Amino acid sequence: MPAIVIVGAQWGDEGKGKATDQLGSRVDHVVKFNGGNNAGHTVVIGEEKYALHLLPSGILTPGVVPVIGNGVVVDLSVLFDEIDALEARGVDTSRLVLSANAHLIAPYNRVLDKVGERFLGSRRIGTTGRGIGPTYADKMNRVGIRVQDLFDEKILLQKVESALELKNQMLTKVYNRRAVEPGEILDELLPFADRVRPMVADTSLLLEEALDAGSTVLLEAGQATLLDVDHGTYPFVTSSSATSGGACTGSGIPPTRIDRVAAIIKAYTTRVGEGPFPTELHDAAGEHLRQTGSEFGTTTGRPRRCGWFDAVIGRYATRVNGVTDFVLTKLDVLTGLDTVPVCVAYEVDGERMDEMPMTQTDFHHAVPIYEHLPGWDEDITGARTIEDLPGNARAYVSRLEEMIGRPISVVGVGPDRDASVVVRDLL
Ligand code: GDP
Ligand code: IMO
Ligand code: MG
Repeated sequence: MPAIVIVGAQWGDEGKGKATDQLGSRVDHVVKFNGGNNAGHTVVIGEEKYALHLLPSGILTPGVVPVIGNGVVVDLSVLFDEIDALEARGVDTSRLVLSANAHLIAPYNRVLDKVGERFLGSRRIGTTGRGIGPTYADKMNRVGIRVQDLFDEKILLQKVESALELKNQMLTKVYNRRAVEPGEILDELLPFADRVRPMVADTSLLLEEALDAGSTVLLEAGQATLLDVDHGTYPFVTSSSATSGGACTGSGIPPTRIDRVAAIIKAYTTRVGEGPFPTELHDAAGEHLRQTGSEFGTTTGRPRRCGWFDAVIGRYATRVNGVTDFVLTKLDVLTGLDTVPVCVAYEVDGERMDEMPMTQTDFHHAVPIYEHLPGWDEDITGARTIEDLPGNARAYVSRLEEMIGRPISVVGVGPDRDASVVVRDLL
């Protein structure tokens, strides 16, 4: 099994970090291919709990080569803080490889992210404020700063100067902030150059050589399908390609080498930040999911918006990612409910829609049509085989599988590394 992609099926925080970590001991490389430190992945190993942002979740497995691909945007101060914090806890991070083509989050882009959101007012996206959007915008505008620019001071200065030309106009004239001197930016970035140098590689070449040698490569998405800049609920999305296609552009591995796409999907739905969310609950049931599922952001600590499972979204994730397997997570959070509503389709302005509406306006108007599945009371956190699950929990899994159109190969029953029911091996 040479290359497998892991993506989020909903609006993020489905448990991608745990799924990646679980496969860690059986893969050689784990590649983060999109996003940056807007991601927050919690991995629980015994008594230890790790919150990863910029580093691939594979960093926690001894022997794995963690790779930050070209599609990622890198905040160097965050990178080294995260590395130092893990090293202090005894995690060996020395194998980390960083693409020479990855873009750097410059300090002015952190500022522009925050002031831009304030400027939008009620139309804000609810970003994580980490400078992600402005950094990807610079990449597309061809005024971005890349990792490799750290090794040529003259080029770095030129690039920072040309980026600041327009930005200083914006900062001073639109946002009423002070202008930034190119020298300040170099003073912040250049001290990292010596520490970065030994990690940097042509990661596309490295991964091709690894695949040719028979290694297994796991490509791990940050964010998720509905936060994807092309396929998500635009403009309430992140600024990168979080779907399986992004795994190729963000790593340099061609589509012909990808064998399997596993989508991680929560047994209910959550979302952080603004934007439409048809099955969102504003009542005690939503609060119950938030408390029982500990639905508070790993990155910003914001309470996550919670709602029932949405099969329309699940089917959409199947389609745009070419999902081969689903990993259903947090089934244990639903224990104790009399019945569990599941959205099977939408009603939009009086009409039934079984697929994702074509326009955002229709999606904003979508009212869920629910099917009510019987609940279960038994504690399922110790279940390790499908037979260990009570009948109604098994029926819930099978019904979801029918609706989303691909097999649910793994069912998560708790945050621990081994708290899963494996029906079909992912590798
Ligand atoms: P990611 O961003 O997709 O990696 O997900 P997060 O780590 O942000 O959020 C998922 C949360 O759910 C984390 O706190 C995990 O420890 C936890 N988690 C993952 N799988 C399960 C599960 O099956 N059951 C329970 N109860 N928690 C889980
Ligand atoms: P993981 O990898 C959930 C959301 C933000 C905001 C929007 C844009 O942990 O699943 P950005 O800072 O990226 O420009 O914000 O995207 N968002 C996430 N929501 N999980 C994430 O990552 C997210 N990363 C970004 O809340 O609505
Ligand atoms: Mg997360």
